[in-house]
Amino acid sequence: MLDRHKRPLGTLRISVTDRCNLRCAYCMPEDEYVWLPSASILLATEIERLARVFVEHGVRELRLTGGEPLLRPDLVDVVARLSRLGVDLALTTNGVLFGDHAKALREAGLSRVTVSLDTLRPDRAKAMSKTTRLADVIASLDAARAHGFVDTKINMVVLRGRNDDEIADMLALGRDKGVEVRFIEYMDVGGATRWSMADVVTKDEIKARISAVCGPVESISPASSRAPATRFRAKDGTTFGVIASTTQPFCGTCDRARITADGVLFTCLYAENGVDLRQPLRAGATDESLWATVSETWQARTDRGAEDRSRSPTRDVLIPVTRLRADPHREMHTRGG
Ligand SMILES: C[S@@+](CC[C@H](N)C(=O)[O-])C[C@H]1O[C@@H](n2cnc3c(N)ncnc32)[C@H](O)[C@@H]1O
Repeated sequence: MLDRHKRPLGTLRISVTDRCNLRCAYCMPEDEYVWLPSASILLATEIERLARVFVEHGVRELRLTGGEPLLRPDLVDVVARLSRLGVDLALTTNGVLFGDHAKALREAGLSRVTVSLDTLRPDRAKAMSKTTRLADVIASLDAARAHGFVDTKINMVVLRGRNDDEIADMLALGRDKGVEVRFIEYMDVGGATRWSMADVVTKDEIKARISAVCGPVESISPASSRAPATRFRAKDGTTFGVIASTTQPFCGTCDRARITADGVLFTCLYAENGVDLRQPLRAGATDESLWATVSETWQARTDRGAEDRSRSPTRDVLIPVTRLRADPHREMHTRGG
């Protein structure tokens, strides 16, 4: 099944909660939030049912995200249910609570984890994300290794003047912990209410800074890759990835659908509107009719949100906070990064 730009549906990102225990300035700045009512949050059984429908029709990767997935009390149950579907199952977390649950999550069948970590300095972690638990985040990388997680990654959003002097330090931590770092260009999505191109450290700049320390870098991503990160290897053997969503959007190979914590299907991180799957699910829809809704939506898909953004003449202006609050679904914490 292909969309209008001939892109297959291969990956499903499932936001399991809109809540987060951090307040990263570029994602969920300190503010008043209208949380999804708890009755509207999908139950573990409902997540399983929807995921099964996607998997039965060819989805090969499920990624749990949020909000912060570890805030969901039944996350281990969600993982156990999804792991039985037999496809690649991964989690994106801020790492604060991961160490406490790593063993149970691994035993429930989770095999891959990505930990978001933007700085190694406690004062900056406090300033950037309002957390005093940086040590727990770093320890989560050890917990992942100790409990047999494979292919663990660090996601670092690089912000000019705030943490861009820590690129080499983050690579060193990655080498030390045996995990690969993926540097993410700052994107003007959702909660990035003060986004400005001036704050973006581009992929080319990130590569140049790394080659100054580690030697020349070469691309090691296969040409056919649908992964968001382009991977590189430096002369000294260090490998890393860069997600250049802002300067080199990869909409042309995007195979990702997203479901919000309350069951709304989005076919692009930037889409204004989604399709409610919770209502039919709770009204007793069959798997066939749920899939009919999903496939109709996917086949009509024309989204190239990041590319459209990069062409927009207004992308350097502040996004009015009121507009964002009017539609909480546009925010990364409901839609999942
Ligand atoms: C929204 S979070 C949700 C999962 C989890 N709470 C975490 O921190 O990984 C997923 C990812 O999106 C990234 N992200 C959020 N806002 C972003 C932005 N404006 N630009 C680039 N990446 C962003 C975060 O850094 C994180 O790696």
